[in-house]
Amino acid sequence: MKLIGPFSQILPLTGLPERGPVSDEQLLVIENGGVLVYEDAVLFGSYEALLQQYPLAEMERIEEAMTLLPGFVDCHTHICFGGNRSRDYAMRIAGKSYLDIARAGGGIWDSVMKTREADETQLAELTVARANRHLRDGVTTIEIKSGYGLDMESELKMLRAIRTAAQHTEATLVPTCLAAHMRPKDFDGDEKAYLQWILRELIPVVKAEHLADRIDIFVEETAFSTEAARGFLQSAKAAGMQITVHADQFSSGGSAVAVEAGALSADHLEASTEEDIRRLGAAGTVAVVLPGASLGLGMAYAPARKLLNAGACLAIASDWNPGSAPMGDLLMQAAVMSAAERLSSAEVFAALTHRAAKALGRTLPAGDLQAYPTKDYRDILYYQGRMKPVRIWKGGQKTDII
Ligand code: NIG
Ligand code: FE
Repeated sequence: MKLIGPFSQILPLTGLPERGPVSDEQLLVIENGGVLVYEDAVLFGSYEALLQQYPLAEMERIEEAMTLLPGFVDCHTHICFGGNRSRDYAMRIAGKSYLDIARAGGGIWDSVMKTREADETQLAELTVARANRHLRDGVTTIEIKSGYGLDMESELKMLRAIRTAAQHTEATLVPTCLAAHMRPKDFDGDEKAYLQWILRELIPVVKAEHLADRIDIFVEETAFSTEAARGFLQSAKAAGMQITVHADQFSSGGSAVAVEAGALSADHLEASTEEDIRRLGAAGTVAVVLPGASLGLGMAYAPARKLLNAGACLAIASDWNPGSAPMGDLLMQAAVMSAAERLSSAEVFAALTHRAAKALGRTLPAGDLQAYPTKDYRDILYYQGRMKPVRIWKGGQKTDII
């Protein structure tokens, strides 16, 4: 049993509504707080009261002013990849079109080529380095998608690299199979044939090796059609996989399919229509917005405010990937989006913790905590991501990542 504190403020983020708007008045703020860690549970309260009640607990004294929050959950990333796409980025900011970039050899396929060239160890090392950077920024749970392999050997290589990476970082990694990212240029057959190949050939191996229990598909005019996605998601679900969808990024359609299929989450939503928003507001599917992709592509944000007002369970994730979202700073992205979309601090913190965990079909792990060097939690979003945590705990144990 261990008592950590005193903290200037603790925001346990417990008791918040699972969906819809949240006001800052609904946030529990414990002044001069302490946290008692025992086995895999934590108890938040007044430091003095905990000290009196548990005088024999081991002590982890906090000597400076700090504010404590649960660790963040990034429920959508693509941080297992080879190479980078700075050439694409330079062309895009210079005004070149998507087609120009594709003709110059850019786009997702470029990352597929670079990821196929890397071996499993290299990919695992790259993934660990990125996961540790995220952990230092207070992100204690990280979802990671495959999807830059797109053939048997390379998709398995990515998922095995993610599994190896999980053994070499203190962050919790949650793998997702995104073989349905695009139809690979070297696949002999149409989109239906490719999706059938994933279901019949790839998924059985993924399951047998316990490499992932989640499956994702990019529903878009340039990727997979709503019609093909419908059958794919049904079959994936019947095979016991949890499902999630890259939806409504450039055109509407994916979120309706996601809701209909009972997906855990529909992610992106920049192009969601009023009807899509209403549907997500009433659905069990978590609406995941990805401000990092809007920043990377220079496009409008997803309608986060409207989604919350419609009653949606809104999560914010980084989409960290080499193409559309190279920055990978989740807190910065959430803070910047909150100013544009008018999201309260409570809504942002809920979107980065409980609601993001729900998108992964999980609850927030107790004892994953982060402390910021301030007496006032409002400083965290105010500095728009420049204020970083100074201490991180996993399962109640202080990490040495910082
Ligand atoms: O989530 N939308 C599709 N996939 C990624 C981008 C991947 C890439 O460009 O490499 C995304 O934004
Ligand atoms: Fe993505």
